Amino acid sequence: MKFVRFLMKNAALANVPKQIDHFSKFSPSPLSMKQFLDFGSTNACEKTSFAFLRQELPVRLSNIMKEISLMPDRLLSTPSVQLVQSWYIQSLIEILEFLDKRPDDHSILDAFNDALVTIRNRHNDVVPTMAQGIIEYKDAFGPDPVTSQNIQYFLDRFYMSRISIRMLINQHTLVFDGTTNPAHPYTIGCIDSQCEVTEVIRDAFESAKMLCEQYYLGAPELEMREINANTRNEAISISYVPSHLYHMLFELFKNAMRATFENHEDSYNLPAIQVTVALGGEDLTIKMSDRGGGVPFRKLDRLFSYMYSTAPRPNIGEHQRAPLAGFGYGLPISRLYARYFQGDLQLFSMEGYGTDAVIHMKALSTDSVEKLPVFNKTALRHYKFSQEADDWCVPSKEPLDLAVYRVTK
Ligand SMILES: Nc1ncnc2c1ncn2[C@@H]1O[C@H](COP(=O)(O)OP(=O)(O)OP(=O)(O)O)[C@@H](O)[C@H]1O
Ligand SMILES: [Mg+2]
Repeated sequence: MKFVRFLMKNAALANVPKQIDHFSKFSPSPLSMKQFLDFGSTNACEKTSFAFLRQELPVRLSNIMKEISLMPDRLLSTPSVQLVQSWYIQSLIEILEFLDKRPDDHSILDAFNDALVTIRNRHNDVVPTMAQGIIEYKDAFGPDPVTSQNIQYFLDRFYMSRISIRMLINQHTLVFDGTTNPAHPYTIGCIDSQCEVTEVIRDAFESAKMLCEQYYLGAPELEMREINANTRNEAISISYVPSHLYHMLFELFKNAMRATFENHEDSYNLPAIQVTVALGGEDLTIKMSDRGGGVPFRKLDRLFSYMYSTAPRPNIGEHQRAPLAGFGYGLPISRLYARYFQGDLQLFSMEGYGTDAVIHMKALSTDSVEKLPVFNKTALRHYKFSQEADDWCVPSKEPLDLAVYRVTK
């Protein structure tokens, strides 16, 4: 029996490249917030969701696995990236086992649910493990601008794909695990159809404040303003994933608090962090302003780089859970969460004064549609031909000798 299982496992492994080729030819199908809500509404159908996911998950996994394989060999061969790749292969194999199963068999649906939970747990540490791979690569081969550019492009797409795959898995497992949560009647899976934005802001502020108090023995206050242009005097609420919003705000608060402390010697007189929330017909915008001294304009783009942080680098031990703090992933990952549902996260800074971080979100659930990477010729070109020369002049470091242009009189 053991031998048969061994043979089957090897056969499945040998078949993986063919399966990846097959499924990566399909484009992922982005879902709108409204579709997510409908999937989980009262007439939710587990069989439909099962049939959709056993096709869609291999498509999303294969699309991004194609891109992983285009990373430089020296990065691919690091133990961390090898480990991540093996997780993706294993998860793909496990989902493909359901391709020829019948959706009307309840035990199949239950087994599918279990498989999804196993896959989600297997991928819990993808972000810090991948980060570790990048560090190993950078330490061994030094920074190189072309590869850095490719890694930035790849990681944005890779982490976005991961966010989307987890979203699909979470929705299916939460909606169809047979329990409903009477305390939150508007919660469908991990979506809150009436997510009260200021409540999430306060939660994120309190958590960041607790961390800040541990490090600095104090924390700046929060001043909040809410403008609802649609229905005056009513709390602002939208359909959103509260955990995504919380993640972005928590990261922004941590950064704002750290900057405020580092820019003010006198911790008794800290300027408050000001947050403005505005709801219009199309957008919901959150602006967080700190007086933490700002960042030079030249460095602003760098803050969204996966290769940059001014915090000391954390160390990952063999078996301990990796701490994310200090990798410099706070901003780039938060921006992905904002972009995932067609929003964005931007920083505007006045060096010498402070920084405004602005989160844009879609106010309408029909506009909030998943933004997903697709593996196609354009993506391929990014990896293959990014060594082109810059098409803007690079100013010379040496002063120009104008004497050579002097015309003799
Ligand atoms: N509000 C801000 N004011 C001044 N500098 C900032 C602000 N926000 C971010 N930065 C700078 O941008 C860098 C990157 O921020 P990011 O949140 O991505 O990573 P981090 O805070 O260094 O580490 P992590 O968030 O992963 O724990 C920070 O190290 C800091 O130098
Ligand atoms: Mg941070």
